[in-house]
Amino acid sequence: MSPDMDPPTSPMPPRHTGSVQEPEMPAAPSPAPSPQAVSNSLVVPVLIGAAVAVALGVYGRLHEPTGFAVNLAGFSSTGYVKAWLATIATLFGIVQLLSSLVMYGRLLAAAPPWIDSLHRWSGRLAVLASVPVAMHCLYALGFQAYSARVLVHSLAGCLFYGAFTTKMLCLTRPNLPRGALPVLGGLAFTGLVVLWLTSSLWLFSTKGLKF
Ligand code: HEM
Repeated sequence: MSPDMDPPTSPMPPRHTGSVQEPEMPAAPSPAPSPQAVSNSLVVPVLIGAAVAVALGVYGRLHEPTGFAVNLAGFSSTGYVKAWLATIATLFGIVQLLSSLVMYGRLLAAAPPWIDSLHRWSGRLAVLASVPVAMHCLYALGFQAYSARVLVHSLAGCLFYGAFTTKMLCLTRPNLPRGALPVLGGLAFTGLVVLWLTSSLWLFSTKGLKF
């Protein structure tokens, strides 16, 4: 089971190793964590994630945009390289959403054994594809607000990395509230989709669907 997901309740049948069956002792129930412990487990990851989001925004705002452009053979401009990378990231984001629904038992009756790996790898690849795009956005373009679309895009970029950071830090925290990972994953996914809508879709629909 993926470390980042609560397993759906599927108790394994007890395994007997010897010929003599010992009477099964009911496991002592572990004490429920206090509400304080549950909220404490979230505080540090949320604060760090928020700091990442704010730091990206502040950097993008204070740093003088360089406007530099890199081009890749086969693409008509930097914008198109970025738009396609963002599309790839968003497609992996959709795989993330679907695989998490399967892991939580919301999509299929039984989760296939490879679903955890699919979830982890699609997440890694989504972030990997987004990083060069975000670096160019922040370094060359900055955090801008010259139109509602661009402001929403800049905010979504900060939200995406903030939610992603918080989710990664939460994976190993004890006493996490049950809904924390789905909410954080949902926030990161929403950020990614909004990024795509306000950049790639806008570019494809105004300047044409091409490479
Ligand atoms: C981290 C914070 C981010 C900031 C502050 C930011 C900012 C910007 C700005 C100001 C633009 C120019 C918009 C325009 O005039 O049309 C832009 C374009 C774009 N952004 Fe971002 N962005 C960020 C993250 C991301 C991420 C994570 C992705 C992809 C996953 C992305 C994908 C794109 C694309 C595809 C374009 C259109 C190509 C271009 O104009 O260069 N951005 N971004």
